[in-house]
Amino acid sequence: MFKTLPGFREFYPEDCAKKNYIFKKWRAAARSFGFAEFEPPVLEQLELFTEKSGEEIKLQLFEFVDKGGRAVALRPEMTPSLARMVGAKAAGIRRPVKWFAIGENYRYERQQKGRLRAFYQFNADILGEDSVNADAEIIALLVESLRALGLGSGEFKLRLGDRTMWVLFLKNLGIADDRLIPVLSAIDKIAKVSADTFKDLLKEALGAASGNIEDISVKIGEFIKVSSIEQMAAAFGEFQSAEIADSVENRIADWRCLMGLLKSMGISDFISVDMGIVRGLAYYTGFVFEAFQIVGTGRALAGGGRYDALVKKLGYQDMPAVGFGMGDVTVSDLLDALNKGSSEDYSPDVYVVIAPGNQGLRERALAFISELRRMGFRCDYSFRDSSFGKQFKQADALGAKFAVIAGVDELAADSVKIKNLKTGDELLCAVCDLASKLSLMLSAQE
Ligand code: HAM
Repeated sequence: MFKTLPGFREFYPEDCAKKNYIFKKWRAAARSFGFAEFEPPVLEQLELFTEKSGEEIKLQLFEFVDKGGRAVALRPEMTPSLARMVGAKAAGIRRPVKWFAIGENYRYERQQKGRLRAFYQFNADILGEDSVNADAEIIALLVESLRALGLGSGEFKLRLGDRTMWVLFLKNLGIADDRLIPVLSAIDKIAKVSADTFKDLLKEALGAASGNIEDISVKIGEFIKVSSIEQMAAAFGEFQSAEIADSVENRIADWRCLMGLLKSMGISDFISVDMGIVRGLAYYTGFVFEAFQIVGTGRALAGGGRYDALVKKLGYQDMPAVGFGMGDVTVSDLLDALNKGSSEDYSPDVYVVIAPGNQGLRERALAFISELRRMGFRCDYSFRDSSFGKQFKQADALGAKFAVIAGVDELAADSVKIKNLKTGDELLCAVCDLASKLSLMLSAQE
């Protein structure tokens, strides 16, 4: 007997119907914001991720050497591929680029609730726009994608942090430019480790220039608690240079602008300022955010931020970018826990019941069944020459809305009977009028 691999799911039809419902809502939300769908490859050159994604993801790659001797990896995320795709066509592409994708990603993680090794992600990104207008648009799409699934501000929140402000803060503490990214990834882990482990991580990140670890870790611990724009400048204490003071002032103006836009978009209730959000991926440069469920497990539903340097780092022109990824695992767990999940309805519009014992009738029925299917009706019938009772039972089991009865007498007069399986009402209908009649009856049911 074979089992599925740890962290991989198999989707039976009812699971697929649930997943597709979520995808439908995500797609509709992205389209309502004017985003176009794209699709990156599942397998990429290994270096695309080892160089561009950050330390944690490097350790989680599904990587191997293919038969041509190439070092390759299944994508753990879509952002580096997106940056390459946009970068490669940058000269001719209309800006801003507003693209979204839904696809499976692979990370060799320790399997736990909400974390699998294969998971779907909805990604939406804007490239070619550096103003906070783009950050606001992306944050609003993230929030609306969850709202479209019936989730409210009592169920999830988006915590908004800022790597730009963190960089200014760390510089103000005297931390050198080449140590900033390692220190930020240590800070990203602070909530998950003990105070002593954090100090060790910090020491490692600072390397030879570690200075007064105790003092630095206390100050970082205080800055993490900043939860309003007002607290930001105050948390810096004394500015080490006029340049830092000016940059902080400008950045606070960006914050005010962004919060103003989010308020006009009617989503302030979903947003909280939280300097504890720095994000684990190496490429983030500005505002960063994570959406968390605030009921149940409290897990992250989505994460993203600005990554203005990635396209250039891949060897293309400078292009600012901001985006997010939302996972299907935590989102569907949350919907299930709240009883808010739903499924795509794939039940047949019509089940054709064929009078048993007559091959001629089956052939005539197949002719109009095929015609109805070509017109887009969902149409099913039995392969067996079963009794009427059995066929009606099957129609019920499949959740068909109508039965069309192909009986001997009716078909002799080029007619069939349509039965509404909800109400039991029946009417006689000429075969040539069947499609139009069913259309009317189906739209009356919606
Ligand atoms: P991320 O924070 O690594 O960001 O992933 C985003 C979301 O994907 C998470 O919040 C979570 O819902 C889901 N996710 C991640 N790993 C797993 C896993 N092992 N099992 C289940 N769900 C998971 C990124 O991937 C960035 N590329 C997002 C982005 C797009 N930033 C800019 N544009």
